[in-house]
Amino acid sequence: MSAGSLSAKISSAPSDPIFGIVEAFRADPRPEKINLAAGVYMEEDGVTPILASVREAERRLLASATTKLYKPIGGDPVLVGLLRALIFREPGAPFGALPPVVGSGRVEVLHTPGGTGAVRLAVELVKRLRPQATIWVSDPTWPNHPQIADAVGVPHRTHPWTRADGRTLDLDAVTQAIASAAPGDAFIFHGACHNPTGIDPTAAEWGAIADAVAARGILPILDFAYQGLGDGLVEDAASLRTFLATGCEILVAASASKNFALYDERVGALAIVAADAPAAAAILTHAKVAIRAAWSNPPGHGGEIVAEILGDDALRAQWEGEVTAMRDRINGNRRAFVAALAGEGASDVSHLLTGRGMFSLLGLDDAQLAALRDKQAIYLVSRGRINFAGLSAVKIPIVAKAVAALLR
Ligand code: LMR
Repeated sequence: MSAGSLSAKISSAPSDPIFGIVEAFRADPRPEKINLAAGVYMEEDGVTPILASVREAERRLLASATTKLYKPIGGDPVLVGLLRALIFREPGAPFGALPPVVGSGRVEVLHTPGGTGAVRLAVELVKRLRPQATIWVSDPTWPNHPQIADAVGVPHRTHPWTRADGRTLDLDAVTQAIASAAPGDAFIFHGACHNPTGIDPTAAEWGAIADAVAARGILPILDFAYQGLGDGLVEDAASLRTFLATGCEILVAASASKNFALYDERVGALAIVAADAPAAAAILTHAKVAIRAAWSNPPGHGGEIVAEILGDDALRAQWEGEVTAMRDRINGNRRAFVAALAGEGASDVSHLLTGRGMFSLLGLDDAQLAALRDKQAIYLVSRGRINFAGLSAVKIPIVAKAVAALLR
C-alpha cells in the first residue's frame, strides 16, 4: 500500500451522532427495542407511514409522467413557486397569495435535496458571498449544522440557547452573541421546533432577536425543517415573518422530509430573501453555480409529489389534515409522557410540556444513555434528546419508568 493510497488512512471517522444511533438500533436483535432517536414521524406501531395524499399523488404521477429528463438546476419552476407559497403564506391568506416582499422580486427559491441540501447551499452562499463570515449556531443544535460549516470551510462558533438549567430560552445570551458578532456574520436559527431542545422563542423574543440581527447586519439562516409540526404550517412561519418585517436579508432552509413524510425523496428548498430584486437575481446565479458543482440538478420524483399535492386544492387540504394529525399525535404523546414521568416520581419535568415539535432534551448524560440502551433497549440521542413521535400507549409507561429512575 503506498503512502498516498486512500487505504493508508488508518483511523476511522466517528459515526453520525443521529444516524449512527439508528444503525445501532436496526442491528439490535431485541424485540422490545424502542427507537426514540432519529427525527422521523412514527405511528402507534412504530411505522413511518406514506401519507395518503402522497400515495394519491404518486398514483396520478404514475399515470401521467412522460419523462425523467433533468430538472432545471434550481428546480422545476412550478414546484418552486408552490414551495414559495407554502413557506411565505400569511395568516388568513389563501394559498398562493404572496406578501408584498415576496412579490417584489426580492425572493428566489430553489429546490434542494432535502433540508440538509438547503442548509448546505445556504452555507455555500455564505462562503462565496461573505467570505470573512463566521457562522454562529446555538449550543446545542442539530449536529449537522457545524458539520456542514466544516465541510464547506466556514468557521463556526456557538452561543447558548437555554439558561444553565436547560429549561428556558436565554434571550440575553442570544442577543449578546448577536451584538458581539461581526457585521456580516451569519446565525443559524431554528425557524420552529428547535432541534434538539424544543424550546422556541415567544413572539416577543423573536422580535428581540430579529431586531438585534437587523441592527448588527447579521445574516439570519432559518432552518425551517419542521414547518407544521409546531403550531401549524402558517403559524410556524411567524419567526420568518418577524425577520421579514425588519427588511433584512434572510436565507430559509425548508424541508418536505417531515411535513410530507418524504424522508427518502430528498425534497427541500432554499429561499433567498435578498436586499432587492437585482441582488436576488445575482445571488441566484451563485446558488446555481454551487448546485451545479454539488448535485447538479435536484432529484425528480419527490418534488413532483409535492407539486401534485400543493397544486391541487383538494389534495392540499387532505395533506394539511395529515400534517395536523401528525402534530396532534406528537403533542398528545408529549403530554402523556410528561404525565407518566411525573407519575413515576421524576423531579420537576413540567418544562417539557411547553416544548414544541418532536423533541425535548431529558438532560441525560452518556453513561445514562448507554444504560438505557444496554439494559432496556431504549435509544435516545445525545443529552437525552427524545423523539416523542416514537412513543405509543404501550411504550410510554416503559420509557417513563426507565427515564424517571434516572431523573429522581
Ligand atoms: C434529526 O434531527 O433526527 C433529523 O433531522 C434527521 C437528520 O437528518 O438528522
